[in-house]
Amino acid sequence: MFSIKKEDAMKTAVLQINREEKCGIVSRHIYGHFSEHLGRCIYDGIYVGEGSAIPNVHGIRKDVLEALQEIHVPVLRWPGGCFADEYHWKDGIGEKASRKKMVNTNWGGVVEDNRFGTHEFLDLCELLHCEPYIAGNMGSGTVQEMAEWVEYMTFDGVSPMADLRRKNGREKPWHVKFFGIGNESWGCGGNMRPEYYADEYRRYQTFCKNYSGNTLYKVACGPNAGDYHWTEKIMEQLKPWYTDAIALHYYTVPSGNWEKKGSATDFTDAEYYQTIAETLKMEELIDRHSEIMDRYDPDGNIKLIVDEWGCWYDVEPGTHPGFLYQQNSMRDAIVAACNLNLFNQKCKRVAMANLAQAVNVLQAVLLTDGAKLVKTPTYQVFRMFVPHQDATLLSASLSGFTAGTEESQVPALSDSVTEGTDGTMFVTISNCSLSDDCALKINADGVLEAQIITAEKPQAYNDFGKVPAVELKPYHGYTEQCGKTILTVPRCSVVSVRFA
Ligand code: AHR
Repeated sequence: MFSIKKEDAMKTAVLQINREEKCGIVSRHIYGHFSEHLGRCIYDGIYVGEGSAIPNVHGIRKDVLEALQEIHVPVLRWPGGCFADEYHWKDGIGEKASRKKMVNTNWGGVVEDNRFGTHEFLDLCELLHCEPYIAGNMGSGTVQEMAEWVEYMTFDGVSPMADLRRKNGREKPWHVKFFGIGNESWGCGGNMRPEYYADEYRRYQTFCKNYSGNTLYKVACGPNAGDYHWTEKIMEQLKPWYTDAIALHYYTVPSGNWEKKGSATDFTDAEYYQTIAETLKMEELIDRHSEIMDRYDPDGNIKLIVDEWGCWYDVEPGTHPGFLYQQNSMRDAIVAACNLNLFNQKCKRVAMANLAQAVNVLQAVLLTDGAKLVKTPTYQVFRMFVPHQDATLLSASLSGFTAGTEESQVPALSDSVTEGTDGTMFVTISNCSLSDDCALKINADGVLEAQIITAEKPQAYNDFGKVPAVELKPYHGYTEQCGKTILTVPRCSVVSVRFA
């Protein structure tokens, strides 16, 4: 950890909390994840097969399972991504040996042998005690195919699909609530115009039925980052009775340039601040899309789901360009904290978010190398933030300071404050400044516990076979005095405090 400056040499900031003012529930689904048939996310990362020497439960890696259980993954999205709109679910059921093989055209042109399919995914969700979030194929699949998938998974009675499920070894239907109809339909999911997509959406969703007490929560394809026209048209045509949510996708590309995104671990201070500035654009995106949604849906019945977010860097040198494998540093931890704090604050509209992606792809919480596993700095943030899940957002105002370069001036601090069902208050703060520690005055006392994630430098990362450089640790950098707490938030850190 950095050596902390004396309190009088620190920047000062104030966090004023109003415990009486409750601002909504932070859905646990904001802490969701995403698992696509892409690179080594599913195969190697999650699924190794029952015959593997790597310890597994029904073919699912035991270490990955336990690590994901520890961060209380509430919802997992699958099978894509762009892959979803080429995925034909019937290819992934029945005897593994006779499952069809296909080309994964989006991600490296590799052979997908479908050994991980509907049963394996829903099995994984049951083991994780999380909600499955299925992305249905609208791009290249038929209405019938989508309707039958829902029937296969959720119908309890006698029907061709329910009988087929039973024949494949699953007597009882699964509980499947979240169902997406098309992914990035403005791009890899079919290059549609919003008007055309909205019509198709209405048709497809009509045949996705609620069976046997299972009620689907339908998610329409939302905008690509700042495509406000898409949101306008979709909202115009999808009134609350057609959809429960629309899905926004926004990735943080440090340089803002998709051709040369930048390295995950080799970056300058200027590139670091540029990354923070790029990620903080999420706030404007949520606000402006929400404004449009408010006009069509003033009661907020249609939710905004950020079902793909995170940092997207150049792939690690020597790895397959189509596999999107990248390391994950202390910078990613700051990015994760800024976004999760923001989603918490916007919980009235933002009902779910899914970090891309769970294992070995983009801003992963876990990385694997053979039998080895690394919990990334981003993982540590998800672990720290668990108490926010399903807690009540409290009103809080933060007056801080700015950090960065001339080109990328950013607010140094981000925060969110919630109250758990046990009445304790949970505060999370990040300080992205690389130069300034902060003495934060909070109008509360009664600290029960504090934790910190920090490192010597933002480039620090956790590597295979090495002592982790970025970990969640207990923290004692605070003093309490009559109704207030002075909390030191070191530069480049994420800190949490639980108050009585
Ligand atoms: O997460 C990687 C890809 O990014 C997804 O497949 C796609 O939806 C998005 O463009």
